[in-house]
Amino acid sequence: MEKILVLDFGGQYNQLIARRVRDLHVYAEILPYTTPLETIKQNGYKGIIFTGGPNSVYLEESPHYTPAILDLGIPVLGICYGAQLMAYMLGGTIEGAKTRQYGHTDMTVTKAESLLMKQIPSVSTCWMSHTDYISKVPDHFTISAVTDTCPTAAMEWAEKKLYAVQFHPEVSHTAYGNQILSNFLFDVCGCAGDWVMDDFIDRTVKELRQQIGNKGVVLGLSGGVDSSVAAALLSKAVGRQLTCVFVDQGLMRKNEGDDVENAFKGTFDMNFVRVNCQEAFLSHLKGVTDPEDKRKIIGTEFYKVFWDIVREKYSDGYFAQGTIYPDRIESGKGDAAKIKTHHNQVGMPKDIHFDGVIEPLKDLFKDEVRQVGEKLGLPHDLVWRQPFPGPGLGVRVIGEVTAEKVKILQDADWVLRDEVAKSHYDDKMAQFFAVLPGVKTVGVMGDARTYENLIVIRAVTTDDFMTADWAKIPYDLLGRISNRIINEVDHVNRVAYDITSKPPGTVEWE
Ligand code: XMP
Repeated sequence: MEKILVLDFGGQYNQLIARRVRDLHVYAEILPYTTPLETIKQNGYKGIIFTGGPNSVYLEESPHYTPAILDLGIPVLGICYGAQLMAYMLGGTIEGAKTRQYGHTDMTVTKAESLLMKQIPSVSTCWMSHTDYISKVPDHFTISAVTDTCPTAAMEWAEKKLYAVQFHPEVSHTAYGNQILSNFLFDVCGCAGDWVMDDFIDRTVKELRQQIGNKGVVLGLSGGVDSSVAAALLSKAVGRQLTCVFVDQGLMRKNEGDDVENAFKGTFDMNFVRVNCQEAFLSHLKGVTDPEDKRKIIGTEFYKVFWDIVREKYSDGYFAQGTIYPDRIESGKGDAAKIKTHHNQVGMPKDIHFDGVIEPLKDLFKDEVRQVGEKLGLPHDLVWRQPFPGPGLGVRVIGEVTAEKVKILQDADWVLRDEVAKSHYDDKMAQFFAVLPGVKTVGVMGDARTYENLIVIRAVTTDDFMTADWAKIPYDLLGRISNRIINEVDHVNRVAYDITSKPPGTVEWE
């Protein structure tokens, strides 16, 4: 299978680069810049993309790579920091601009016959985000595009198949970004572009069979799309060697525990176990208010339950989970900043020794996971279910979690979901839920003063959950939701709507 390597130097858009390449039907995988050259040689890549990254290439602590990578005969495309790094490795000069260049810029193509610039109009919009720029290109390189403020918007040494762009072709703001990536993949690297999701499924199933052999696997199943798709893949690979464990930790939405059990019990070729441990989880969370502490406690308790089951059912075995790419990147993978620790990224307790951890979806985005789910024939409703975080309502009850607060939130969230479904508005949002911020407000009901809880509605539209916009729910629907929550849920007297996008907010409140 032809593969492109996205060599990660810690930029914000690395996952998007891989994603765009896969959208063009070429498989892309991301590896950190610490990956040895030998490994890269052995993996047989058709092309390599250097990603963006923080800082200046001249700083010692900035990520670097041996220039020998440029002599492998494999085409390389450097993007932003990756472009500067290529110039730096080959003796070009990089300088710091007085101000950061950020946003849309007009780019002029200066080398019409450039393969990378094929079918790009002579002037088009590109998207920049940099302070340093390449002021002198290395020997043998020619400049193939410029902007008013950036003398090297693109450069190339065509004979050696080395290309670099200062802007970001992977973001949709670069008008012809996809064309540039496509030129690199097909004209420079000579890719055939025949990769499809079925290949991912076949390859993953084969690899899972090889890795697992005749051992047992315990999968943490939450009933959400990621763990369900992971369950379907593993069931296809190893059938009854798989035990899916659904932990009802008391932080599920109303009736969700029973819904998950009904959806999974007896439907796949696998074993299904439901573990009820509501009280244990709540007692571990008693008095804990810090969001990261809560996430870590919940993640650790999950691992302990899975470990008990592995030991009970198999003498040893693998542990599997439905981690997807954004879980890893937001939990601070590689050089990217940590935003929050997703429950499946909590470090494994020291006394737990699974044979290994299996994460078959770890490089995919949510919408790619859904494509896999559809291909595997999972029910439409399950594949298109809105995501639900592993720590559940534990991160939607802000501050200390108690059974009483969880009950208020479950009831409010149920009304929200019911009203949205009745209005046929579910399809218009990627995710919507209620939050209990732990704030009490004064109100008046039946001529009497009330002092009760505030409920916040959070609803977003997004494809990949890395960025999101707040959903523009019609006012009349918001009004009905608010009325019903206040009338039907005890201890709530006010409802507010969160109008924050991601960034600067995140989808969940904690
Ligand atoms: P944030 O809040 O990071 O959420 O913008 C992005 C998406 O991830 C979900 N989420 C999680 N999913 N374990 C999960 O499986 C977690 O710990 C977790 N935290 C957030 C969130 O619901 C949204 O869909």
